[in-house]
Amino acid sequence: MNTLSNMIKVAVVGGEGIGPEVTDQSHRILKWFSARRGLPVTLREAQYGLSPYLATGKVLPDDTVEAMEEADAILWGATGGPETTEVPPAARKAGSLLSLRSKYDLYANLRPIVANPALADSAPLKASVLKDVDFIIIRELTSGIYFGEPRGIETLPGGQRRGFNTQQYTTSQIRRVARTAFELARTRKGRVCSVDKANVLETSVLWREEVIGLHQAEFSDVELTHLYVDNAAMQIVRAPSQFDVMVTCNIFGDILSDCAAMASGSLGMLPSVSLGPPDRLGRRKALYEPVHGSAPDIAGKGIANPLGSILSVAMMLRITLNRPDDAILLERAVDTALSAGARTADIAEPGAKRLSTQEMGDAVLNALDKVAGKEREPA
Ligand code: IPM
Ligand code: MG
Repeated sequence: MNTLSNMIKVAVVGGEGIGPEVTDQSHRILKWFSARRGLPVTLREAQYGLSPYLATGKVLPDDTVEAMEEADAILWGATGGPETTEVPPAARKAGSLLSLRSKYDLYANLRPIVANPALADSAPLKASVLKDVDFIIIRELTSGIYFGEPRGIETLPGGQRRGFNTQQYTTSQIRRVARTAFELARTRKGRVCSVDKANVLETSVLWREEVIGLHQAEFSDVELTHLYVDNAAMQIVRAPSQFDVMVTCNIFGDILSDCAAMASGSLGMLPSVSLGPPDRLGRRKALYEPVHGSAPDIAGKGIANPLGSILSVAMMLRITLNRPDDAILLERAVDTALSAGARTADIAEPGAKRLSTQEMGDAVLNALDKVAGKEREPA
């Protein structure tokens, strides 16, 4: 029996742009697992963005802060709208995704890149390049140039303006994210590729030394290689199947993960999780979100691909809920829907029927019913 005390708390925050549409579908998936597989979760929906700002003066209203605060896992949609003057920059900044990453110390951002063979024909890269692609980028998410001080734009005596940011890393900031990479590699193919720019940047020299130090001290059973970031970008599109776990700093991870989206076939398919430090029981605050953004150009049209958000639920099942069988069930249901030809516009071959966001959700739920039904049939 699930009692209230052993329930895992999930905050569902659709946010802005296509966020609410895609999150509606992953929310339905979570409800399916709760009803059909006894998933011990409580789901609490909360608002984020322009509409709560207009109602309360805050993009992140108090109720949402409370829901996120108490949550073990946050299912996040997207942030960002068409440039508008309705939310002043300071109010926007106060509740920004970056401030949330920082507040909950979500330093390890995991972005799995898996190429689904069913999508080979709509992918921008050749099927031979996409064969066997299955790797994960671990991006450091709460330090580096995104957060380094000093930063700003100043006017120089001659009247020119100068913009500046600071790339910085400390030993512990590097080691804790490298640890996440090594530990994950042990559960996969046992290989870590650390990406830096140590031929130019001191922060990267330190990055490489600390990754090597941790490797020698605790993870010598894992294979460790290093790539400069420019070469890594090329390798990701040239031969992405060579990678298992890639670990890198905040800004390199931002850029490489968009690049790697093409090695999966479509940005709309990619899930992610951002993890905080483990507590005494090993539990980590987690924010699950599709890698794609708010896509204001298609927001409200009901045509966005919900699979990035739905596959983020699969990650939640595996990591926060510790239900690997349910994660596999959901991934199989997505595969089943795709193999049967379910396509949203972004992954449709020319001439193929294009499903709406809701219809793609239906297709995955139908596949779940089927796959779960099969499991119960006697062998
Ligand atoms: C991402 C996004 C964000 C980032 C933006 C929206 C601030 O591009 O999560 O990859 O740069 O981290
Ligand atoms: Mg990005």
